[in-house]
Amino acid sequence: MTNSHISGFYNLTIEQRRAKIAEALAPLPPPDLAPWTTGGLSAESADHMIENVIGVHSLPLGIGLNFMVNGRDVLIPFVVEEPSVVAGASFMAKLIRAGGGFFATTTDPLMIGQMQLINLVNVEEARLKIYEHKAELLAITDEIDPILKKFGGGARDLEVRVIDNSPIGSFIVIHLIYDVRDAMGANAVNTACEKLAPQIEAITGGKIHLKILSNLADRRIARVRATIPVDQLAFAEQDGILSYTGESVRDDIIAAYAFAASDPYRAATHNKGIMNGVDAVVLATGNDWRAIEAGAHAYAARSGRYTSLSTWGKDKDGNLVGTLEMPMAVGIVGGATKVHPAAQTAVKLMGVKTANELAQIIVSVGLAQNMAALRALATEGIQRGHMSLHARQVAIAAGASGELIEKVAAQMVAEKVVRIDRAEEILGTYTEK
Ligand code: MEV
Repeated sequence: MTNSHISGFYNLTIEQRRAKIAEALAPLPPPDLAPWTTGGLSAESADHMIENVIGVHSLPLGIGLNFMVNGRDVLIPFVVEEPSVVAGASFMAKLIRAGGGFFATTTDPLMIGQMQLINLVNVEEARLKIYEHKAELLAITDEIDPILKKFGGGARDLEVRVIDNSPIGSFIVIHLIYDVRDAMGANAVNTACEKLAPQIEAITGGKIHLKILSNLADRRIARVRATIPVDQLAFAEQDGILSYTGESVRDDIIAAYAFAASDPYRAATHNKGIMNGVDAVVLATGNDWRAIEAGAHAYAARSGRYTSLSTWGKDKDGNLVGTLEMPMAVGIVGGATKVHPAAQTAVKLMGVKTANELAQIIVSVGLAQNMAALRALATEGIQRGHMSLHARQVAIAAGASGELIEKVAAQMVAEKVVRIDRAEEILGTYTEK
């Protein structure tokens, strides 16, 4: 595949879109799309994933277009129930493409495992004793997972923190910094902490209480930057009444960002918009979206005040520049990513070979999604974009089916009244006929 821009994709039927994606997957045979036509997960497989299974639950899967990440075109699967998410990100990716696409980087895939050390007679003595044995403890930890070691992962560091004035007085928290390579890493980190605990107890005379990874994965960060040529931002509203210059859209996006940067009430919503895109890809790849959510919001509050995960400003030529930085603990081996056939297809479609590459794509989607929301909010408002798909959902909820969905929806959009009671009335005029 050389280009993630597929002209007229929106107007194709589902079958035609599948054919286009199968073509785009040129090196892979079309049957690889099969998990997406069936939902991908059998009840039998589901029964091995969680308890008390009685079935499976589906969500829409759409393809994000126009993305170019680090010079490579990529088609991105989104699993999401909300209208406008896929369209918004794809549209912004098109504008961002004109500025060279997304430039994304990642740190090493370092996760933090926490061990809570309590019942200490002397906290300072214990702290220094752990440091004295650090090399030996790291060497032991490194042997725990030979497979991970073979792929270049393993223990990297031990950090010792003293927590004072807690409800149980002082205690120690040990952070095991663990390179988990292409795994999400929760299992590897938790196992390592559990195995290391007795050694630390023997060294310090204390008791290791909790042993669990931290979802504030601030050593495993994905960063992305995009520049949007200012002329790309100019547009006219569909009814032609209002038009916006590139400069005004740029400045209005920056002013919208300033709101999120300064106010936690707005920052929560602003970051939710970022997560609309992030979670959709995390979900499509079978990753743990609760972990990503927890990490994102904790990271947004790392200064002590909750703020925006992204920034928006301009460069010396007056172009719009957006950045996003957040923890991104996703894997491409193990867990549901390995077990769920649809997640495997998602990984294949994006052609990612490492967890870091996946993280770079996800953070790019987050930035595009954020830009889509800010652009809409700062100009024509969010409802217009939502209107047509939302109207279809309302029409379905009112009982419309087949071609009546589109007819009822179109009339509500034209009337600018998208409500279930109106949908029922309009539907009534058709069913009476
Ligand atoms: C809706 O799902 C997301 C937005 O509220 C994000 C934002 O306000 O920036 C539109």
